[in-house]
Amino acid sequence: MNNPQPKISQLNTDRLILRQWLPSDSQPFARMSADPRVMQSLLGPIDAKASAAMQQKITDLIAEKTWGFWALELKQTGQFIGFAGLHIPIAELPFSPCVEIGWRLAFEHWGKGYATEAARAALAFGFNTLKLDEIVSFTALSNHKSQAVMERLAMQRDPLSFMHLKVPAGHPLQEHCLYRLSKPII
Ligand SMILES: CC(C)(COP(=O)(O)OP(=O)(O)OC[C@H]1O[C@@H](n2cnc3c(N)ncnc32)[C@H](O)[C@@H]1OP(=O)(O)O)[C@@H](O)C(=O)NCCC(=O)NCCS
Repeated sequence: MNNPQPKISQLNTDRLILRQWLPSDSQPFARMSADPRVMQSLLGPIDAKASAAMQQKITDLIAEKTWGFWALELKQTGQFIGFAGLHIPIAELPFSPCVEIGWRLAFEHWGKGYATEAARAALAFGFNTLKLDEIVSFTALSNHKSQAVMERLAMQRDPLSFMHLKVPAGHPLQEHCLYRLSKPII
C-alpha cells in the first residue's frame, strides 16, 4: 500500500490564512512580481513566466515538506496578498545550514501589520512543530522595511554583515544583514 500524502500545514492568524498556493494566485502574484516597489530590494521586477516558475517552485517545496513560503490569504475577502513563511535557503550562506523566515506583500497591503502577523505564526510553527533551535532572516542593508519586521519579531541583529553570493559582486544590494532568533526558553 502507498504511504498517504503528508498533510500540508495551514496556519491561521486573526486576519490571515497561511496556505498552499492555488492556481488563482498566479495573476496577483505576477502583478506583485512586476511591481518595482515590491521588487526594489530583490534585484528588480520579474516577468509573468519567471513569477509562475517561482510560484511552482514554492508550491512544490510546500507539497514536499508540508511547510514553506505559504501564500497569504486575507480572511475577510479571500484575497491573495503575498507570501510569508519558512524556507531552507538554496544558496550557500556563511551561516548555513539554516532555516530562514521571509515575506513579500503586494504594495497595497503594506503598512497594515500583515507581514509581522504572518511571521509570528510561522515562527511559532518553526519552533513548536518543527522544533527548530534557531530561525534566521536576512536582507539587503537598504531594505529597512524588512529589517523593521525582523525588529518587531524581536530578532537579534548579527554584528557582521555578509555579501550574498547570489547578488552580482559590487551590486548595491550585495551587502546583507543577518538577524537571528533562538527557540524561546519556556
Ligand atoms: C518587507 C515588507 C513585507 C514589510 O511590509 P510592512 O507592511 O512594512 O510590514 P508589516 O506588514 O509588518 O506592517 C507593519 C506596518 O503596519 C502598521 N500597522 C497598521 N495597522 C496595523 C495593525 N493592525 N497591526 C500591526 N501593524 C499595523 C505598523 O504600524 C507598521 O507601520 P510602519 O511601517 O509605518 O511602522 C514589505 O515592505 C515588502 O513586501 N517588501 C518587498 C519584499 C521584500 O523586500 N521582502 C523581504 C526580502 S528579504
